[in-house]
Amino acid sequence: MDVVVDWEALGAHAVLMASRAYAPYSHYPVGAAALVDDGRLIGGCNVENASYGVGLCAECGLVSALAASGGGRLVAFACVNGLGEPITPCGRCRQLLWEHGGAGLLLHTPEGIVTMDALLPQAFGGDDLDHMAEAR
Ligand code: THU
Repeated sequence: MDVVVDWEALGAHAVLMASRAYAPYSHYPVGAAALVDDGRLIGGCNVENASYGVGLCAECGLVSALAASGGGRLVAFACVNGLGEPITPCGRCRQLLWEHGGAGLLLHTPEGIVTMDALLPQAFGGDDLDHMAEAR
């Protein structure tokens, strides 16, 4: 299904998500929003923890919301800080997004709209596991 990306709506949802962040330790709220290939709009915010290392990035919440609301492929993604400025996902979250959006996922970054393969070149993914399985 071809879906039209409303980047303004995506950005607005990311800002809403950032307003719901639980970030009492870093004081760095993050909101993420994505369009799914069936037209659904999903989101997530960062949720920190007194045990700092187990805090969850906004993208973790987003991919959990994706699965919990029925799955599907991510088509377009936007992420903002507490000032509403676009930010790029951290390294770990690029891997999460790769899994559910693949090379063609569109991301709104500080440098404009880019595809996932530009943010995570030569990514490791399910194809690598399939390749090994075929060789066994
Ligand atoms: N953070 C995210 O939620 N997503 C990112 O891609 C970058 C970092 C969060 C983690 C932590 O709660 C806060 O931003 C400061 O690192």
